[in-house]
Formats: sequence, C-alpha cells, structure tokens
Amino acid sequence: MNNQELLVSRNDISKFELSTSHIKPLQPGEILLQINKFGLTTNNVTYAVLGEEYHYFDFFPTKKKGMAKVNVWGISTIIKSNVTELPVGEKIFGYFPMSQYVLMKPFKITKSFFYEKRDKLPLDMIVYNQYVRISHDPYYDPRHVDYMLVFRPLWWTSFCLDDFLNEKRFFDAENVIISSASSKTAFGFALMLRRNNRRKKIIGITSGKNMDFVKSLNLYHVVVNYDHVSELEQKPSVYVDVAGDDNLGDTLQSTLGSNLKIRLLAGISHQTTEQRSTKGSEVFFAAPWIDHRRREIGREFVRRNVVSWRALMDNVHEWVDITKGYGSKSVIKAYKSLIDGESSPNQGFVLSMHEKDAEDMLSKL
Ligand SMILES: NC(=O)c1ccc[n+]([C@@H]2O[C@H](COP(=O)([O-])OP(=O)(O)OC[C@H]3O[C@@H](n4cnc5c(N)ncnc54)[C@H](OP(=O)(O)O)[C@@H]3O)[C@@H](O)[C@H]2O)c1
Repeated sequence: MNNQELLVSRNDISKFELSTSHIKPLQPGEILLQINKFGLTTNNVTYAVLGEEYHYFDFFPTKKKGMAKVNVWGISTIIKSNVTELPVGEKIFGYFPMSQYVLMKPFKITKSFFYEKRDKLPLDMIVYNQYVRISHDPYYDPRHVDYMLVFRPLWWTSFCLDDFLNEKRFFDAENVIISSASSKTAFGFALMLRRNNRRKKIIGITSGKNMDFVKSLNLYHVVVNYDHVSELEQKPSVYVDVAGDDNLGDTLQSTLGSNLKIRLLAGISHQTTEQRSTKGSEVFFAAPWIDHRRREIGREFVRRNVVSWRALMDNVHEWVDITKGYGSKSVIKAYKSLIDGESSPNQGFVLSMHEKDAEDMLSKL
C-alpha cells in the first residue's frame, strides 16, 4: 500500500518535497491508521523549526537523508488491526505526520486512550505519545471537530499560562503584555484572563496588518503595533512572548526597566531556523506545569480545562473560519502560507493528504 507524505529539509524548513513510501504488511500487535484530517497552524511550523533540538523530528523518522516529517494533530480511523482491543473503524485523535497513513504498535491500552512506544524520546514528551479514543474523549464534540483540530494543541498552553501566572500572583504586575496577539495561542490566553476575571490590563502587540483582527476580538484592552512598543505605559508588567522576537523583548526591557517583572517565552511565531534564540526569557512549556498541577490538585485541573475548552468551542466561530483543503497541493499551499507569514489570523486550516474527504471515502467502502 502506498503512502504519500510531505517531507521538509531538516535544516531549512522552507524546502520540502512529496514522497511516496510503501506500508509494510501488518505485524502482530500493530494497527494501520488512515489519517483523515489534521489542523495546521504556526505551532506546527514551530515543531519543524525546533525539530532537531527538541526531538520533534524523531517521532516519525524517514529514511530520506536530510529530510524529516512535520508533526500535526489529527483524527484518524483504524483501517487494519492486529490488536483485539482496537477494532477497525475506531477513530483516534493524536499526533501524526503529514501523511495519508501511519502504522502504530499500541501499548497501555485503556478505554480512553493508548500509547505509542518511543523509548528514545525524552520523558517530558510523553504527552505526544498518548492517542485518544474519541468514543471516550471529553474534548470531542461532533459539532466542533474542525475547530478541535485547530485549537486543541494550543489550548492547554493558553489555559496554563493563565493558571501559572495566577499561581505566581502575576509577579505583582498590573499589565499583561502579549506578543503575536493575533495568534490562536495568544488570544486563547487573553480569553482565559477575561473568563477568570483576573483584573489585569491585557495589552496585545501585533503587526500592522493584523491590528484590525486583534481589535475585533474584543479580548485585549489595548492593541499596540510592534513599532510602538516603546510608548507602553510605565506600569508593573509581565510579558508573555509568543512571537519569540529578541529585539522586541529588548525594546520592552529597556522601555519598562524594573517595571518588567518577567519575560516568559511561550512561542516563536516570528522565528525561522537560522534566527533562533531565546535570549533573556524564561521558557514556558505547558507539559511540566500540567504535571505539577496534576500532582497538586489531581483531576480537578483537567476538569477545569475541559469546562473552559467547552466555552472556547462555543465562541470560537465568531473569531476564526475554517479553511479546508484536500490533497498534497492544498497542504503545501497552506504550509507555505504559514512559513511565509501570509496566512490570515482569522483562518484555521483543516487539511488532508487524501484528495477527497477520507472519512466519507471509508463510509462508502
Ligand atoms: N509553549 C508551548 O507549549 C506552546 C504551545 C502552543 C503553541 N506555542 C507557540 O505559539 C506560537 C503561535 O502558534 P499558533 O499556532 O497559535 O499561531 P497562529 O494562530 O498560526 O498565529 C499566527 C500569527 O503568528 C504570527 N506569525 C506567524 N507566522 C509568521 C511569520 N512567518 N512571520 C511573522 N509573523 C508570523 C502572526 O502574528 P502577529 O502579526 O500578531 O505577530 C500570525 O497572525 C507558535 O510559536 C507555537 O509553537 C507554544
């Protein structure tokens, strides 16, 4: 069986190629998944930018020298199974390559999820090895599947940023400044600050072309163009950096001086492989914070996340439209628009390497 996939160059993510691999016959303990569709945002580009350093390229290795796969979050259907507990037809949400199919060897199977063994990866990446059976998934709602594909990987970070800062009493800041304010991760965080009534002034910084969109969200109290950050008010502030732009961070630092209480690096939407750096900031990863909070308050932490997730899903249609694309040409077009910074922030890509609606194809078999 042939499997078409998109590969990128390991050291220059703007270079990519289509490749066709051959799926081997299923061995005992294996399942074959058809990847029906997946979300694509700048976050996936960041996986590629950090591919070497943070092991994202090691999840789905390819034999093609110098090339790697970009990871995405998607929905798949089991189309062949040698695992009794995981029957053909079952739908799975999880971390996949940009491919048509993927072979897996599940272990630790429960009614809600299973794991894929990736022994060589660091322990804090375990979250990516968990595959959710959507029949028992509190985040799954058939009304919002496409929005789920776009927002689910970002939501934990939006949620945890708010929770982390609240636990730290916002480092005594009055203002919360957020860069790349048009990104879904950033405005999800602004939404959480609003929802939880944190009583902070939320200042979104963005590029000129995205100002109108950011204002239209009505989530930020103030929206500032990147060119005007040196005019920010002298108030104790925390800076949540989603852009990963060192010059911007330095300008904020020199503008606010001791009023800048902390610089948290939560994203690198403005960075390419060659420019990468994380100077002067504390890096924020959701995974260790989730671990810490789960140990502290147990399942209550997940319950809170699910409740706020449902609120996001009920409102998100007002802010973002889904752009669907089938087949490799559509996937390449969307990927290119993201790395070139040409996609519109009110757009959420839901794509498939199949030429037609893959779930529909299965239902007609
Ligand atoms: N720490 C974590 O655990 C974690 C988790 C989730 C996401 N993140 C990170 O958060 C960042 C945003 O991800 P997202 O998926 O939310 O983004 P998104 O919704 O696709 O955001 C797009 C925005 O990012 C900026 N941008 C994107 N590509 C650009 C380019 N090539 N040149 C200049 N600006 C560009 C633009 O915003 P502006 O014009 O407003 O700058 C654009 O509107 C990513 O770096 C992602 O990895 C981190």
